[in-house]
Amino acid sequence: MVSQTAGKVVVITGASSGIGAATAEALAKGGAKLVLGARRLDKLQAVASRVTELGGQVEVMACDVGSRDQVQALMTLAQSRFGRVDVAIANAGFGFTSRVHEVAEAQMEEIWRVNLLGTWYLMAAAGSLMLQQRQGHIIAVSSVVARRGLPGMGPYCMTKAGQLSLVEAMRVELRASGVYVSSVHPGYTQTEFFQQASRRSGRTVRGGGKIQSAEVVARKICSLIQHPRPELWPMKMLRWAMLLTAMMPGISDAAIAKTMRPYGRLPRD
Ligand SMILES: NC(=O)c1ccc[n+]([C@@H]2O[C@H](COP(=O)([O-])OP(=O)(O)OC[C@H]3O[C@@H](n4cnc5c(N)ncnc54)[C@H](OP(=O)(O)O)[C@@H]3O)[C@@H](O)[C@H]2O)c1
Repeated sequence: MVSQTAGKVVVITGASSGIGAATAEALAKGGAKLVLGARRLDKLQAVASRVTELGGQVEVMACDVGSRDQVQALMTLAQSRFGRVDVAIANAGFGFTSRVHEVAEAQMEEIWRVNLLGTWYLMAAAGSLMLQQRQGHIIAVSSVVARRGLPGMGPYCMTKAGQLSLVEAMRVELRASGVYVSSVHPGYTQTEFFQQASRRSGRTVRGGGKIQSAEVVARKICSLIQHPRPELWPMKMLRWAMLLTAMMPGISDAAIAKTMRPYGRLPRD
């Protein structure tokens, strides 16, 4: 049976590792045409080799999503190579731990630029192009923490909540235009994320609870592309947990303070 992703032109940021790389490989198995961006070109080229082995067509470009020009260049590459963009996945992102009042301004600016502005750059470029095409699917990889700020991860949670707000607004703005907009809300996923967060935080940062592989999340993203819907929560139970925290913020504060240390101990704990 021909996959519903066969022949689709898909742009992915942050495709050099983790969820982005796994999604590229899963889509390649389904016959998609891929345009992959990230800063580490050597890692991107390794992903591209695996995609090619799986029979996929792929282009890669060094792209820092903190630069609007570089994000636009990635979209332009997709158009010039494949003639259109069917799906744009804003996946690039990182995290670190710090108490809100102790975050260095430079760190705050960087996470804002990469996770939030970087997402918006791709959404804006894809939105303009897809409106002309009268079709397309924009996907932002947010997080479970889009719905609830967690201690030690305030800046990261802020960017993930911001991504969700942009997605919700844009989905209604483009309603009936042929362009669909979705968010993805992974839980704890086995990727380089926590290694990178530990490096940036100067201490070990760990996820909490059940862990999922990047491959499982990637397969679910493929199904989101096949059957567009507003939100994908790869760990379904977490969606309900987050709704409960929104309904009972005071009780949730107490429960989180007592039980959750999802991102490792803070400096003075
Ligand atoms: N892992 C989890 O538990 C988890 C949970 C919820 C949500 N998420 C989200 O999932 C997304 C993917 O993360 P992951 O878990 O797959 O982690 P990862 O393995 O660390 O991958 C992050 C990707 O983002 C790229 N990236 C970082 N900064 C960038 C920049 N300035 N410009 C372009 N690319 C950049 C990295 O590539 P380069 O370094 O080569 O640029 C890498 O390809 C992120 O948005 C993250 O917030 C992860």
